[in-house]
Amino acid sequence: MKKFKKDFIFSTSTCSYQIEGGRLEGGRTHSNWDKFTIDNFHIPPEGSTEREINSISVAANYYEKYQLDADIMKEMGVNGFAYNLDWARIFPNDSGIANEEGLDFYENAFKSLINNGIKPIPILYHWDTPLWLEEKGGTSSRVFLEAFRDLAKVLFKRLGKYTDIWFVSDENSSYTVQGYLDDYCPPGKKDEKEFWKAIYYLSISGAIAKEEFDKAIKLNYIQENSLLGIDHDWNPPVPYDKDDKDDIEACEKFNEYNLDLFLDPNLLGTFPDCFWNAIKKLDLDEIIIENDIEILKNNKLDLIGWNYYRPAIIAHPKRLNEQIQWQNKPSTFIGNEFVIVFPKNYRYTKWNWLIMPEHLSIGAHVLWNKYDKPLMILENGLGYFDKKEDGIVADDYRIEYLSEHLREVQKAISEGVNFIGYSAWTYCDIFSPSGGYRKKYGFVGVDFENSNLGRYPKSSMYWYKDVIKNLTTTNLEHIDYKKFSNDAKLSLKSRKDLWNK
Ligand code: BG6
Repeated sequence: MKKFKKDFIFSTSTCSYQIEGGRLEGGRTHSNWDKFTIDNFHIPPEGSTEREINSISVAANYYEKYQLDADIMKEMGVNGFAYNLDWARIFPNDSGIANEEGLDFYENAFKSLINNGIKPIPILYHWDTPLWLEEKGGTSSRVFLEAFRDLAKVLFKRLGKYTDIWFVSDENSSYTVQGYLDDYCPPGKKDEKEFWKAIYYLSISGAIAKEEFDKAIKLNYIQENSLLGIDHDWNPPVPYDKDDKDDIEACEKFNEYNLDLFLDPNLLGTFPDCFWNAIKKLDLDEIIIENDIEILKNNKLDLIGWNYYRPAIIAHPKRLNEQIQWQNKPSTFIGNEFVIVFPKNYRYTKWNWLIMPEHLSIGAHVLWNKYDKPLMILENGLGYFDKKEDGIVADDYRIEYLSEHLREVQKAISEGVNFIGYSAWTYCDIFSPSGGYRKKYGFVGVDFENSNLGRYPKSSMYWYKDVIKNLTTTNLEHIDYKKFSNDAKLSLKSRKDLWNK
């Protein structure tokens, strides 16, 4: 396999509500996630994979530790950091006037990255709506559009000079499904009409951001040839029985709802049939405005950010009547045209997420052929119960997971897919929506038990450093796990400036 190109982006990703803290600092006001975590606070017994909903008011305190984190990222060797900027920090109220202190914070954080050779890759929206905007209707309301335009305009003007890659949003799919069809995430509306409205306004807002992006380029706030992408968590469908016509058709239906619905609007300028059918069925025609559709057509985005964790095994609903013992309860979707199933005898994480790296390269071809846009993995990572011993975490399992997936990126590139980067989830341990602070994802550990929230190294950080240095991954049997845990231990001793802060 080809080596990665020298300018390939090796990055890590995370998101403000999951690490930043400082939730009432610097003029910020609360968001829907602050409210949700306060209202639903729940700590299950230690060692349980039951959902933990914990306080995010301090999280990993990136708000105060951004300089240290940039220094650690430099030690890791990454050249990118994908991060969602916190809307309520920029616009803490509906005055339409941006909060200078919030902008200063991000400007300083960006400078600390750039001084360490790391490109900031900002994401404008990752599920976290300022409470003032949520109370006016949030993403399922037209007020969202102009508020989002204001956000995009201000950020492009102030921070445009620091980077040439931006994303409008992260996983509109998870957010709308879990927050509008279910109450798993805020705003927890459980209302099908609100779900379709949110999809509509989120799609149009992406095109509005592109309008502002192009204007910002003309005004020299952003350099020419910069890219504005959309991030999506498509799970490539795998038929439960690859020879069964009904299961294969169910996969096509799944793609209409899981892929086309979330990427076609901003990449092709059109909504798929399932959208128009729902608008008709639910009598929602009044939300569609001709001018919106024009904006969508004229402002297609440039880049796909793809969050790949797992594929989805898809079955025809007839399988629900068969006597099959599933690993996990099957999940259905509006329309009941397909079922997501969890057959036994597959590889799963402790949180029952499928592990099937090969669908990363298979899926990459589908995205590349369908949309003809450059791709970047924006999230890929393993949630696990880490154990700290002698000051480090020897997370061989994470090295194995990441390396299997990164090899698929390398494979897809060798086969002609235009991948420009890989951003692993995550830089450090975070607040995870499904596992709280116990579900660890980071290359770098955070001592959540201690108010100092100190950082500590994991072997995977040194594995990633090695990959970036050599521009290649190795087969699992050639990975020297011991070497990477030794590197972490050595660093603990020699880089006291990083690990003792
Ligand atoms: C993605 C989200 O869907 O999955 C992240 O964008 C999230 O915010 C990640 O952390 C992993 O999910 P979880 O629930 O395991 O943290």
